[in-house]
Amino acid sequence: MCGIVAYIGHKEAYPIIIKGLQRLEYRGYDSAGVALISKGEINLYKKQGKVSELEAFTVGKNLAGAIGIGHTRWATHGAPNDRNAHPHFSGSSDLAIIHNGIIENYAALKSELIQRGHTFLSDTDTEVLIHLIEDIQAKTAVSLEEAVRVALNEVIGAYAIVIISKEDPDLLIAAKKSSPLVIGIGENDEYFIASDATPIVEYTKNVVYLNDEEIAVIKRGKELRLMNIKNQPKIPYIQELEMQLEAIEKGGFEHFMLKEIFEQPSSIRNSMRGRIDLNKGIVSLGGIREYKQKMINAERIIIVACGTSWHAGLVGEYLIEDLARIPVEVEYASEFRYRNPIINENDVVIAISQSGETADTLAAIKLAKEKGATIIGICNVVGSTISRATDAGSYTHAGPEIGVASTKAFTSQVTVLTLMALSLAQSKGTLSDSKFRQLLVELDSIPDKVEKMLQSDSKIEAIAALFRDARNFLYLGRGYNFPVALEGALKLKEISYIHAEGYPAAEMKHGPIALIDEHMPVVVIATKHGNYEKVVSNIEEVKARNGKIIAIVTKGDTAVKAIADYVIEVPESEDALSPLLTSIPLQLLSYHIAVMRGCNVDQPRNLAKSVTVE
Ligand code: AGP
Repeated sequence: MCGIVAYIGHKEAYPIIIKGLQRLEYRGYDSAGVALISKGEINLYKKQGKVSELEAFTVGKNLAGAIGIGHTRWATHGAPNDRNAHPHFSGSSDLAIIHNGIIENYAALKSELIQRGHTFLSDTDTEVLIHLIEDIQAKTAVSLEEAVRVALNEVIGAYAIVIISKEDPDLLIAAKKSSPLVIGIGENDEYFIASDATPIVEYTKNVVYLNDEEIAVIKRGKELRLMNIKNQPKIPYIQELEMQLEAIEKGGFEHFMLKEIFEQPSSIRNSMRGRIDLNKGIVSLGGIREYKQKMINAERIIIVACGTSWHAGLVGEYLIEDLARIPVEVEYASEFRYRNPIINENDVVIAISQSGETADTLAAIKLAKEKGATIIGICNVVGSTISRATDAGSYTHAGPEIGVASTKAFTSQVTVLTLMALSLAQSKGTLSDSKFRQLLVELDSIPDKVEKMLQSDSKIEAIAALFRDARNFLYLGRGYNFPVALEGALKLKEISYIHAEGYPAAEMKHGPIALIDEHMPVVVIATKHGNYEKVVSNIEEVKARNGKIIAIVTKGDTAVKAIADYVIEVPESEDALSPLLTSIPLQLLSYHIAVMRGCNVDQPRNLAKSVTVE
């Protein structure tokens, strides 16, 4: 996510802002910038790259001023580069803005403003917002705060913004909706604004968390003033921060991984945002629109990926073949690139990568491209190498994933693959309209069901305590949940260092059943889908050999409850969407076992977040 920092007071703003941006680096970003007011001018400096690169860039420049704004950008609209970095000027350069969020109707606003003579320097939605504010002020001669209020009533989407004006060097205006914004109230008429408390806590513990659709007007020498976008005054509620710096970065969670597991209701929602319309019954993936026909006509779709992304690819295979009836093959990128595969120009390759920097996946793309295939990307990092190497793609918009073990990235990848499969199925007519709409409504309900699923965390933690010293685990699943069994095993392996294997449940009798005894915990995904009865008999086979069963079941299940040792319920769902739910308890089970074993959950031994080497 983007990071916001602003300051108004009696000290030099630049060092406070830069230090604040460094405090927000954990949020993940691709560019940084700062704007300061000095002697009636706004001096604005911004660059793609790290905060340290911005600092190097500003050496020798005018960094004076006791008021300023700073930003670290996590690209959503527009690739990471200097011109798309924040802050952004208005047309006259009298105003500057920083923004965290997504203006969903920015395209319509932008074309209107262009017709009114505005010209834009960047591809961002943020620049549109500051031009809209300037346009309103020019047309109606209202105050800046009123122009901001009117503009925010026209905006659809999420925002945390701070604006400065060279006409008034004693004024900061901030506003918030869905994206976080905190105001720190310092001594001697100092105010600090940031995306969270980490840049503020060293200066003051007195903070005001803005609520949705609230605007803050901070005028030097005056009291903080709040109102909502309906112009109703609001009383600032001043709280005292208890949390320490380290804890705040993790949003109060003990580890980034746990924070990211709990972010999944919103990250899955963000993967769908602006891409489904329940009323019209449509899925729209703008990023691949030009290549959709190519995908529909493909002789086959080849999915290339590594690790967790490969598991998401397996779910994608089941989804696309089941719903859109297009042949799909899933390949480990590291194998695909070296085995001299047969590829032709009628093939479509889908490359899945959270980081967008995985060397094997990039190499697989290059090979497929050389042989004439069409390349579609599903990445989380905007402007990453893989996303730029593809012909088209859809970003997952999961937000930065700091924990090395992939959690929200996996469910966001599966969400985008589900949208792709539904979109292809609808165009091919392989799904009835009623079935398509049923799946769309069900998909839209998944974030709320994940929220419910997360309430079982303490129960899962109690089960984890019973198995923290196990030496091996077996994970079994069928159909859509076979890839989830593989992913669950990987999660446990990579953070708790316990050996675990995922298997199709029916495969157990072809060998692994020899492993079963009272020391072998077996996690079975036994939701009421597909070959449910057969999974129940697999559980019986394990029980007969004294295996310990941890079953993931559909809420209200009784048959499995009667035979399993431990049961974790997930909400009822469509079979095709069940991986978005059944993967959650497996993430939590692995997390708690690893914590109980004293493992470094966020940075497991020997692992890197992005494997950019072969
Ligand atoms: C999964 O938890 C690991 N972090 C790892 O398997 C990862 O999924 C794999 O390295 C692929 O990374 P990518 O999605 O960034 O390409």
